[in-house]
Amino acid sequence: MTAGADPTGGDPTGADSTGADPTGGDPTEPTTESLLLAALAEDPLAATVLGPLDPEEAPEPPDPEDLDVFLREGLMPERADVQGEAGLLDGTGRVALRFAPSGRDVRVPAGVSVFDAASWNGIAIDSTCGGHGTCRKCKVRLTSGSAPITSHDVRTFSQGELDDGWRLACLVRTAVDLDVDVPPLVTRPKASTVGVGRQVILRPAVQKRFLELEEPTLSDQRTDIVRILDAITDLEPRVDLAVIRSAARVLRAADFKVTAVIIDDLLVDIEPGDTTDRRFAIAYDLGTTTVVATLLDLSTGTPAAVASMLNGQQPFGGDVITRISATMMDDSAAGRLRELAHATLNSLAQEVLAEAGVAPTEVYEVGLAGNATMTALALGIDPEPLGVAPFVMSAASFPPVPVAELGLTLHPGARAVIFPALGAYVGGDIVAGMLASGMDRDKRARLFVDVGTNCEIVLSDGERIVSTAAPAGPAFEGGAIRCGMRAADGAIEVITLDPAAPAGAPEGVQLGVIGDVEPRGLCGSGLVDAVAELARVGLLDSSGRFITDEQAAEQLPGLADRLSAVGQERVFVLYRPTPDAPTEQCVYLSQRDVRELQFAKAAISTGWSLLLGELDLEPRDIQQVLLAGSFGSYLSPASAIRIGLVPKLPVLRIVSAGNVAGEGAKMVLLSARERAGAEALLQEVKYVELSDRPDFNDRFVDQLAFPG
Ligand code: FES
Repeated sequence: MTAGADPTGGDPTGADSTGADPTGGDPTEPTTESLLLAALAEDPLAATVLGPLDPEEAPEPPDPEDLDVFLREGLMPERADVQGEAGLLDGTGRVALRFAPSGRDVRVPAGVSVFDAASWNGIAIDSTCGGHGTCRKCKVRLTSGSAPITSHDVRTFSQGELDDGWRLACLVRTAVDLDVDVPPLVTRPKASTVGVGRQVILRPAVQKRFLELEEPTLSDQRTDIVRILDAITDLEPRVDLAVIRSAARVLRAADFKVTAVIIDDLLVDIEPGDTTDRRFAIAYDLGTTTVVATLLDLSTGTPAAVASMLNGQQPFGGDVITRISATMMDDSAAGRLRELAHATLNSLAQEVLAEAGVAPTEVYEVGLAGNATMTALALGIDPEPLGVAPFVMSAASFPPVPVAELGLTLHPGARAVIFPALGAYVGGDIVAGMLASGMDRDKRARLFVDVGTNCEIVLSDGERIVSTAAPAGPAFEGGAIRCGMRAADGAIEVITLDPAAPAGAPEGVQLGVIGDVEPRGLCGSGLVDAVAELARVGLLDSSGRFITDEQAAEQLPGLADRLSAVGQERVFVLYRPTPDAPTEQCVYLSQRDVRELQFAKAAISTGWSLLLGELDLEPRDIQQVLLAGSFGSYLSPASAIRIGLVPKLPVLRIVSAGNVAGEGAKMVLLSARERAGAEALLQEVKYVELSDRPDFNDRFVDQLAFPG
């Protein structure tokens, strides 16, 4: 493609627009009963009471005439004229996107829009509609790879521009690898798009006012502080002692031309000269495994830099229970865990500040979204009650805390906003996710599933919201899986089986490997893909048992030789490094791995099926399923449906939601109103306790099998 006229300088207003184990498992496997006991041992939470919804908060419904919008929302089958290459979009596979000029490379599930992929990775694309296909401002140019032209593209671009690769980013559903040129923002935004298409009006708690003050005279002997406060005409802040200490010196050194820094209602600093365009904040997603930091420019609402790293607490164990246990067995462990959390947060802060060329003293606020255990450990709160029945938190909400309490050295007056939690197992990360996905504002029936060791599930019918936590175990993190590993280079993340492959043909198994290197293991999304594909082609029966070698040889000759055994256990070989390598040295999926996944998905599907009952909904009533979190977002929607992890719905209703916890953390920094919304969620969401349900056992057993 050749460079063409930049069409982004357009309309700046954007006005355009069974009692028996049904699994047939072997006797050495965990029984349904034992799993149930383990599940019930993780008893979470207390209930909260539903609160009223504000109808004015509901987003405008999409124009019913607008087929593209409905297509994007997954409410109708794909239209032939926009499908094109997207025939590949069956919810499987990953695509690689390279964004210019940032040079950032990202991988997302096929079908995620270019707009969402950019947004999740901190790349700002112009928008006033939040990615809903109505503002026509999200103009990008595809410089490599192509995408079908939608009717909106035709109305927005000239034929020459279309030929040059210009498209509306929110309508490009990724099917192939793409290079994407992102033009600079056309106008200074008053709103920012975050989360799942949420438009946040920029009203940060951090405000700056440039003041040109009259110098004192014998006839004007107001104090320095009164002189400053008199000049701030639209706010009536209280004054921090630090300002009183520094006022005389700063005012006189700056010829009485200073910038007042106000956080909420507190004047925290006066800075020499005009610094009004320099105000930043850092949003943290404090995960048990991975921590992500986004440096936000509060003047524009756009990310200035993003960085992530493994949580430094890993040596104390991979999940919250082992870290809590560590504090119960060793008095010094809590302090050490806190130090490690702080070191992680600090390291990320230094990284994003260096990348963006921002001084630490220009960061005035921090947002932190983490599960209840991670939050407690970072704040120095004893986590032990979170790990033992009845699983009570020390507090659900937290006051703003000085950032020094998180081990951060930023502006001396900077403070941290900590997300409130619904309970020990539906923490601040999930409240942040609900905020970012607008679970309290959308009138559609929506299901939110954050897949992980502890799986949080939220269901809304457009009026009421219910939530629960399901103990899914470590399968999705690659734990307890024979060849399991984290989603790192060498991990098989995508698997496609060809049941028609002839005997001995290598193309019977197609693998997608992170980093395009030799396979070393299987990550969680690869596990789900492998089991879904084996069930699809019939190598696994609906109970989850491998069919016999004889049946495989007869029905699937191209795949039958992949069935092998390690010890007494049957396995399916996904990758054999050399033709004569013993099975033990291969990457394989074992019968027990399949069972682990069945137990995990049964816990999750029991959770959402019980929530459906709470709201008198049927699975078909759900208009959108949001797969959230660092694992869930990378799940293949088709495979999730195939194994019954999510309800059996048209695949386009299953949407990867991205890192919604981090998005929620950004929202509370960009808007004081959203901050209040996060607290309000505590009153609006009803928690449903699974272990209290007499029908839990039967439902769990029913959910173990794969759907037909
Ligand atoms: S049309 Fe508004 S973001 Fe794409």
